[in-house]
Amino acid sequence: MADPDGVTKDQVLSALSQIEDPDLHKDIVSLGFIPEDSIEIGDGHIAVKIVLTTPACPVRDEMKAQAEELLLALPGIERVDVEMDASVRSTGAAQGPKAVPGVRNIIAIASNKGGVGKSTVAVNLALSLRHFGASVGLLDADLTGPNIPTMLGVQVGIHADTGLAILERYGIRAASLGFVLKPGTPVVWRGPMIGSGVKQLLHDLPWSEGGELDYLVIDLPPGTSDASMSAASEAPIAGAVVVTTPNVVSVEDATKAVAMFEKMKVPVFGLVENMSYFACPHCGERTDIFGTGGAEAMADELGIDFLGSIPLHNDVRAGADSGVPIVEGHPESSVAEAFRTIAQRVAAKTSVQHFFAEEATAGAPAEA
Ligand SMILES: Nc1ncnc2c1ncn2[C@@H]1O[C@H](COP(=O)(O)OP(=O)(O)OP(=O)(O)O)[C@@H](O)[C@H]1O
Ligand SMILES: [Mg+2]
Repeated sequence: MADPDGVTKDQVLSALSQIEDPDLHKDIVSLGFIPEDSIEIGDGHIAVKIVLTTPACPVRDEMKAQAEELLLALPGIERVDVEMDASVRSTGAAQGPKAVPGVRNIIAIASNKGGVGKSTVAVNLALSLRHFGASVGLLDADLTGPNIPTMLGVQVGIHADTGLAILERYGIRAASLGFVLKPGTPVVWRGPMIGSGVKQLLHDLPWSEGGELDYLVIDLPPGTSDASMSAASEAPIAGAVVVTTPNVVSVEDATKAVAMFEKMKVPVFGLVENMSYFACPHCGERTDIFGTGGAEAMADELGIDFLGSIPLHNDVRAGADSGVPIVEGHPESSVAEAFRTIAQRVAAKTSVQHFFAEEATAGAPAEA
């Protein structure tokens, strides 16, 4: 029905359908990003809402500007209000029998080698997703060497007398065995126990208390052994992020981690190169200690995406040691910006993953 100004909802939708989602390669109207009841037209004015699949969308601002321009070009329109919103969908498999209730997408951070910065990436990635407005959890699956308490500035053994619980820190929900261990207690666990420990952290904790989680980031221990295998078999993982450092050995190790996830049928979102160059804390000058492009070339060779590089920087280590991760302590730094860019890429990968899973289901022949 035409409104008094002559512009119709169909015209609004047709204008907005010129905007394409760069990851999903479809226009935002057919993707269902515009709830029809959000469109209001009147008196030279249009208000509309664009509901993205993640608040960490890398092209959110560009899309808003594009929508404003297209709508302002409609006849008689002088003012537009484009509200950007997001509703994170859950990975298709999250509806499966081992789904973690209230957790929409699980993202695993892994590497075959120790000490490459998995925990550092996990913490800063979780906080970056939170920064964009997502609800985020962080699960420390490194049962024998949990580092998440220290990195989040939570006292080791804080729940030693009360039992394992999720706690909130910097706006994210976290759980780690380090919360219940008395400081200095070594954990000597064998394979099957590790598997059941990971299972408990995933399934016996009330992750959705306080509202559904858009993303649960899992910090895995090094290697492709028990904890990683359990995480992959005990929950639907939307995708894995493999962390590597640019020297040859760790690049080879990353290849093994990628192979494991492929074998477990867990999608690999891509590779993060950590400590990839030295950023001088005084002048910011970049020194490529290990040369450049190694991880990028490897990602290419493996047919996976390169998600970004994080420099070797003292503020990253200091942030981890002091319990104030760099994206929280120095949000304006270029390192924090690099973490946020990686978070946006991971969020976009999660949305794409979900979209294709949905398409595959929709395209599958109906069961007899
Ligand atoms: N980009 C970086 N710049 C400076 N220091 C870093 C950087 N990334 C990680 N570190 C430091 O390197 C050490 C190892 O990092 P981290 O604990 O995150 O690695 P990990 O892969 O989780 O190790 P593990 O295999 O033991 O679980 C920590 O002291 C951390 O602060
Ligand atoms: Mg670690």
